[in-house]
Amino acid sequence: MDTTQAKERIAALSDDIRRHNYNYYVLSRPTIVDYEFDMLLEELISLEKEFPELVDSDSPTQHVGGEITKEFRQVQHKYPMLSLGNTYSEAEIGDFEERVHKIIGDGVEYVCELKFDGVAIGLTYIHGRLTQAVTRGDGQYGDDVTSNVKTIRSIPLKLHGTGYPEEFEIRGEIILPHASFEKMNIQRMEDGDEPFANPRNAASGSLKMQDPAEVAKRNLDGFFYYLPGNTLPFKTHYECLLAARSWGFKISEFAVRCNTSSDIFDYLNTWDKARHELPFDIDGIVIKVNDLRQQEILGFTAKSPRWAISYKFKAEQAATKLLSVAYQVGRTGAITPVANLHPVQLAGTVVKRASLHNADIIAALDVRIGDMVFVEKGGEIIPKIIGVDMEKRSADSSPVLFISNCPECDTPLVRSDGESAWYCPNGNGCPPQIKGKLEHFISRKAMNIDSLGEGKIEILFDNGLVRTCADLYDLRSDHLIGLEKTYESNDDKKEKKISFREKTVANIMNGIEASKKVSFDRVLYALGIRFVGETVARKLTTHFLSLEALQAASFTDLIEVEEIGEKIARSILDWFSDPKNLEIIARLRIAGIHFEMDESLLARLSDNLSGKSFVVSGVFEDFSRDELKKTIEAHGGKNVGSISAKTSYLLAGENMGPEKRKKAEKLGVAIISVDDFLRMI
Ligand code: IVH
Repeated sequence: MDTTQAKERIAALSDDIRRHNYNYYVLSRPTIVDYEFDMLLEELISLEKEFPELVDSDSPTQHVGGEITKEFRQVQHKYPMLSLGNTYSEAEIGDFEERVHKIIGDGVEYVCELKFDGVAIGLTYIHGRLTQAVTRGDGQYGDDVTSNVKTIRSIPLKLHGTGYPEEFEIRGEIILPHASFEKMNIQRMEDGDEPFANPRNAASGSLKMQDPAEVAKRNLDGFFYYLPGNTLPFKTHYECLLAARSWGFKISEFAVRCNTSSDIFDYLNTWDKARHELPFDIDGIVIKVNDLRQQEILGFTAKSPRWAISYKFKAEQAATKLLSVAYQVGRTGAITPVANLHPVQLAGTVVKRASLHNADIIAALDVRIGDMVFVEKGGEIIPKIIGVDMEKRSADSSPVLFISNCPECDTPLVRSDGESAWYCPNGNGCPPQIKGKLEHFISRKAMNIDSLGEGKIEILFDNGLVRTCADLYDLRSDHLIGLEKTYESNDDKKEKKISFREKTVANIMNGIEASKKVSFDRVLYALGIRFVGETVARKLTTHFLSLEALQAASFTDLIEVEEIGEKIARSILDWFSDPKNLEIIARLRIAGIHFEMDESLLARLSDNLSGKSFVVSGVFEDFSRDELKKTIEAHGGKNVGSISAKTSYLLAGENMGPEKRKKAEKLGVAIISVDDFLRMI
């Protein structure tokens, strides 16, 4: 195929794929089966690879994610990104209508819309192409998150149809649908990361990620609702929405025109109930004057438009009986009281448990067993108890006596000054803490033994094979073969069975063996010393260079290190003063774990690739595979042997096997060239 033919084919494929993306992600009405779609995309990817000079910045292949962003550029909004006045009652909506009526007179038409609970975004299109995506920031300046927004498949990189202004901005909300949110949190918990509290936080966190290829995996979505500026050839807001829809934007089908107050209240009451059936979060409705001329007359206050207002739904509450309080021991030993409730229907789900946070909150609420309590589900997934119905308190209600000993190991609990949580101090002897420590040790950013996981650690623990991370290195295959356990999956709550067959065991042993190569900074992080996270571990290892030196460091030596404060220093000294920990270190040392910075890491050039894993495959013109692998490590990245869903990139050279490519595409792993790679670092 020559360049002219390739250009034509790329244009035709891009148009087709764009249309299919629109049908699938915007209209939810695909007209092609997944396999055929994948074939089209694959053809486009390989043509773009063959003819890199023909790659367009708005090619649909850009949805898989481009270059890494180290820091987001601050961009000034052309039109300040204002927010809306909030109301919480029908009376306040009446006041709003009254204000509008005073200025405009009779017969004002409104548009009622859903108020999407996500992250506000402004997209700029020039000649029909997405050129910039900026977050709200402080309303005047926001972050340029264009490369991340480009990965959202429902957002058109190139507009459809005609009639759009040469240059314009459209505003909307980036959201994370419930299904993607749940999937993402399951993955985070498996990786030992904190789950996000709600989809809005998750969407916001995702938009700020440095690697667009990772953002692409998050399944973000976006709804658009506003075209700022008055250069549009339309008379009403509603017409703007219809036009934007015809250009390929996802516009909610639930925007309706209302001519009377009772239409508005009907809309409000309908959605207050029906919101739980939506596959994403809304936190209210928005009421806008439809006529653009009238909007102009009404204008803006310093903070918000006078032509629109939002009505926020109240967090739903229910009253139910507090049956008992249970206490959970977390990985760090922190004790969390959890209320067991008489099951009650709340915001679309049956609630049986609620968080009570800590002893202070229990005391402040003055909550007693047997009380009728009010539970509320705000933006967070776990409902909380917000009060007690004192009138219904019965004479036989009994105070909640916070436990004084650990429910798992019976050790007396401790609480330091100024902290609200009680802790079980038996870190090395309390089962959930031991398992938690092991899970942390094997986690991806630590020793990365991904052939082990929560369930398998549990089996090893239950069979008395591991009590500390050092025990992992004494395991032998014949200890493991044949062990099994049934457990309830976090995922779908169904019973699953893990059994250790030969292949599983071989994988575990290989994973443990491979972990001996993990660099000292990650080993230090893996040890799970309180307050020593990834960054602190890196600071400490680059400063002290060996575990021996770190261990010999005094309080003063420690706080001299950049970013190490008194709290961290004290925690490190505490950790090294425990003989059990010293024994663990001694055994890990015998096992061959790195306790020194190795030379290649001292030569670390940057952290640009930190947290990223690469498979290097094929032949490269200017580099050997080994050189590339060393470069990856020198920039904080990691080399892995085979592609999995966790791999960040496939660095592809010539003559790479087609199977590898297929696997990477299937798992959504970004395939990059040496040039892409060099740009990243
Ligand atoms: S219109 C000039 N419409 O809610 C203001 N905003 O609390 C234009 N939001 O800033 C905003 N859904 O981030 C509008 N259908 C909707 C919305 C919506 C969610 C967000 C938006 C806004 C905030 C106000």
